[in-house]
Amino acid sequence: MAIIALANLKGGVGKSTLAVNIAGALGPKITLVDADPQATAAAWADGGNLPFAVIEAPLTGDNVESWIADVLAIEAPSVVIDLPPVLGDATAAALAICDVAVIPVSPSGADLRATNKALELVSNARAARKDDRPRVLLVPSKVDRRTAAGAEIEAVLHDYGEPVGPSVSQRIAHVDAFSAGQWVGDYARGSAAHAEIKALASVIKRMAGRP
Ligand SMILES: Nc1ncnc2c1ncn2[C@@H]1O[C@H](COP(=O)(O)OP(=O)(O)O)[C@@H](O)[C@H]1O
Ligand SMILES: [Mg+2]
Repeated sequence: MAIIALANLKGGVGKSTLAVNIAGALGPKITLVDADPQATAAAWADGGNLPFAVIEAPLTGDNVESWIADVLAIEAPSVVIDLPPVLGDATAAALAICDVAVIPVSPSGADLRATNKALELVSNARAARKDDRPRVLLVPSKVDRRTAAGAEIEAVLHDYGEPVGPSVSQRIAHVDAFSAGQWVGDYARGSAAHAEIKALASVIKRMAGRP
């Protein structure tokens, strides 16, 4: 089983949006674990219009061990986890079991501080595991290239020395797909928003594979 975790210590960067859409692009056999007590992904699934299983399993500082056991017991070829935006034991525990940590970073404001901290947790996890897992993908998210920050985000992220992109642009289709309770490939098949998600999912799939 490949485990892909969406992690960022800051909210509002598009973590849940990417989790749902990456799961959609990876296909119906995927299970999405909503580990964020805010339960955005679970709310997305409420209308019954997502073509994959969504499990609500909030991860807190208090239930780390049982949460890991529950996730590892899932029978699916791949699991996508939407993590809570918190620093500490909970996120560290998830990073200890995942193959790929996808870290969305939006161009606005002070996201880079949170990204630094997330990468610190990743390097701790790698040291403890004594391997190169989790692999990391920094994903420019909610990008508007007309803004200075949007035009620069990819270059800024490359400085971290981890793989970057493909980027996901700020697009109304993502907001409307949430309202419709669908992933963007069902809501707007063939759209630019869908194409970006497909490109991202295919990079993640390749990274998650074991040689
Ligand atoms: N690529 C995007 N284009 C437009 N709006 C987006 C995009 N990604 C996320 N959003 C919007 O930004 C807000 C926060 O997104 P969300 O995925 O819930 O972030 P997080 O899980 O990191 O808190 C939501 O209103 C969502 O619809
Ligand atoms: Mg969220």
